[in-house]
Amino acid sequence: KYLQNFEVSEECNDLISSLPKDRGWVVPIMYQYQGFWHHTWQLQGVLAFQKHFLAQDTDILLVTAPKSGTTWLKAISFAIINRIQYPIASKNHPLLKNNSHVVVPFVEQLYADDNSNPDFSETPPRLFATHVPYVSLPESIHNSKVKIVYMCRNPKDLFISAFHFTNKLRPEHMGTNSMEEMFDLFCKGVFLYGPYWDHVLGFWNESLKRPKEVLFLKYEEMKEQPTTQVRKLAEFYGCPFTPEEEKEGIVDAILGLCSFESLSNMEVNKKGYLPTGEMKQAYFRKGEVGDWKNHLTAEMAEKLDMITECKFQGSGLKF
Ligand code: A3P
Repeated sequence: KYLQNFEVSEECNDLISSLPKDRGWVVPIMYQYQGFWHHTWQLQGVLAFQKHFLAQDTDILLVTAPKSGTTWLKAISFAIINRIQYPIASKNHPLLKNNSHVVVPFVEQLYADDNSNPDFSETPPRLFATHVPYVSLPESIHNSKVKIVYMCRNPKDLFISAFHFTNKLRPEHMGTNSMEEMFDLFCKGVFLYGPYWDHVLGFWNESLKRPKEVLFLKYEEMKEQPTTQVRKLAEFYGCPFTPEEEKEGIVDAILGLCSFESLSNMEVNKKGYLPTGEMKQAYFRKGEVGDWKNHLTAEMAEKLDMITECKFQGSGLKF
């Protein structure tokens, strides 16, 4: 969808002409709207999402910057919330038949496709995902009790993940991006839904103000203490595991179903494309903490650490 011809709305076209622009990661240009960078298709989705979405207090919204572990968070959250309707061991579990991004779509992408009104009529709680930064979320979300789970990731691993992912999305004739060029862009904040640090801080600050409504997670903590984090999520969603479920090993079952090995080896995730055009396989690379060490020079790592320290100074947030 980033690349295919799609009809750009009049509203989006008018707006674009007045926005700052810079080099894109997947297509040639990105635009800065409300302080954050978007490709045209994404921007169109953000605008329609802002304009039309009506939040319900029972909604659950998963928020990430791209490459923070969204695919994993979506699978785990879907499995937790729907475990009565879809027992984890069921041979018909939706996660065995559909990619996480089909089961829990990005709401702004639904709007980008269908400028009017996607069908959100499922029974509560409705589970959505988005990459949209806090400041650009629809007013109805700002003014509601929607539960937000935000997952962030160490910027060095996130950059490496994004570098590989976006190169996979680029069509051959556009060539691959060089690591140096994308590193400079990332550092100056020009990143999908970035600056990355501002994206994180928007939700971090909100989680401090409204801890009952905004849960802040780190990919690295999810890797390190998965059972604690899964229990935390179930509690936050208002459906903690019962002693019977615990006895039957539900936490391990959810983690097993949603693990990197499990998801990446499912036939449904091995080949083919998402409705939005991305190849499904591109969402599964290594799924590790610290892969940046295999790619970044010492200077690059130091520079990212310095930016991170500077940006997060005084916020209480550390990596
Ligand atoms: P790497 O590129 O470092 O391997 P997103 O889902 O936000 O697009 O993030 C993608 C990153 O999450 C990729 O990181 C991918 O490999 C990793 N990932 C995907 N599924 C995962 C899973 N089930 N568990 C842990 N990491 C996963």
